[in-house]
Amino acid sequence: MTHSTAAATVSIHTQRLISEISPLLFGGFAEHMGRCIYEGIYDPASPLADQRGFRPDVMKALKEINYRIMRYPGGNFVSGHRWQDGIGPKSERPRRRALAWRSTETNQFGLHEFMDFAEELGTLPMWAVNLGTGSIQDAADLVEYMNLPTGTHFSDLRAKNGHADPYGVKYWCLGNEMDGPWQIGHLDAPSYADKAVEAAKLMKWMDPSIKLIACGSSNSGMPTYPDWDRTVLERMGDHIDYFSMHYYVGNPAMNSSDGPDTDSYLASSAQFESQTDTIAAAIRLAKAKNRSKKDVGICWDEWNVWYREVGGDGAWSEAPHILEEVYNLEDALVVAQWLSTFLRKADVIKIACIAQIVNVIAPIMTKQDAMFRQTIFYPLMMFSNHASGDSLDLLVKAPIHDTRLYGGAAQLDASASFDAASGKGALFLVNRSQTESLTVTLKWEDLAPQGFTQGWQMGGHDPKAHNSFESPDAVTAHEIALPTLDGKVATLVLPPLSFTTLLSSHAPA
Ligand code: AHR
Repeated sequence: MTHSTAAATVSIHTQRLISEISPLLFGGFAEHMGRCIYEGIYDPASPLADQRGFRPDVMKALKEINYRIMRYPGGNFVSGHRWQDGIGPKSERPRRRALAWRSTETNQFGLHEFMDFAEELGTLPMWAVNLGTGSIQDAADLVEYMNLPTGTHFSDLRAKNGHADPYGVKYWCLGNEMDGPWQIGHLDAPSYADKAVEAAKLMKWMDPSIKLIACGSSNSGMPTYPDWDRTVLERMGDHIDYFSMHYYVGNPAMNSSDGPDTDSYLASSAQFESQTDTIAAAIRLAKAKNRSKKDVGICWDEWNVWYREVGGDGAWSEAPHILEEVYNLEDALVVAQWLSTFLRKADVIKIACIAQIVNVIAPIMTKQDAMFRQTIFYPLMMFSNHASGDSLDLLVKAPIHDTRLYGGAAQLDASASFDAASGKGALFLVNRSQTESLTVTLKWEDLAPQGFTQGWQMGGHDPKAHNSFESPDAVTAHEIALPTLDGKVATLVLPPLSFTTLLSSHAPA
């Protein structure tokens, strides 16, 4: 098949910085729902499981993504969850109805099991407290259990349950999506802020070193968006460190009455950027209004493609097959743009967690004796392992194409990082066109790299191509021949529907 070709230029200056990149942008989210925990990260019935019930094959793939922070235990689940159900001898833990997903929760995987999992993975835990059915006392008790040295009721109970040392969990979410009528214990914005401020007070009295994250709107289509955000920030901006954003995108996009539209879908970074700008503005407005000196960062703690498997009814079974979205090439290109948005907005976005990590809208799918990496696995792995140091403010000139949902969109989506200390640079490039190749001229305005060290590309002609247990490697990122550097200029051809990562090395500072 022959394609037409367009041209673009990317000008790079290693001192034109957006911000330092927070490593916590590369986080995940594990909820007790569907087969994320049970049959996902914890699967004692699998012939592959170790003595703790963890799957080494799953653990290996998770480690390849290099998650820095992991949100747990929900999600909607947390708003009906009693944390004390998940501690103590497994044989004594209660079976309960998990109302959020109409499932049965066995509590065989609980608090200590998650902390073991996070330790093995080398990731920081980010714990959500229940502000639905849970009280502010429950939230404070949980901080006591997790973080206090022994000598009090709950810290002694932790020691009795096998962990004498405090866990020292630093990041805490004050509830989940409390703006949503579907949420167990849903509240309006002033009521949520009042309850969350009181929870925050008690939790910080228990451990002043913790960092708190308040609930923002669950998506930008909510009728209360962005007033919920403004109200909550005005009332509690001084009590929190981060403010959460959630969004899921699809083809067709959320709230679009028209059918699938791949050109618009592939321009989704317009949505991610405008939602970020709105929340960043609400944060600044609340800060000014409160005459506050406190900076609040954005914690985008649920983001992903999700629109096919939307039925969340577990029919009261254990580990039901719900939200098992299969991702294709176009989804991976959208995920790559989302990660590029995090770099372009690195001055305000400080934490981000893809929802979720295994089986449930996830980069990894398992069955009892096998697993495969979905298409979206690859951009996550690329950004998490190679974006470091500072995010660079690139000058991008590329053809603009009209899209139905977002108007004009540049054919090239680009972001870059540069770590002056190590001299490592990384460029992340998506050619959004379904038909046109793009010849990209890379121009370094100050320091030219000494050379390119590695590059990968994923792409293909079929935006719907995907992986499966039968064809686990149908769509992957493969290494590419490195472009030649001519002084400060290099040229690279990006095929249509492709995502490219290019690493360079500069003389270290
Ligand atoms: O990630 C799946 C669900 O999406 C979460 O439980 C909830 O917070 C969101 O609506």
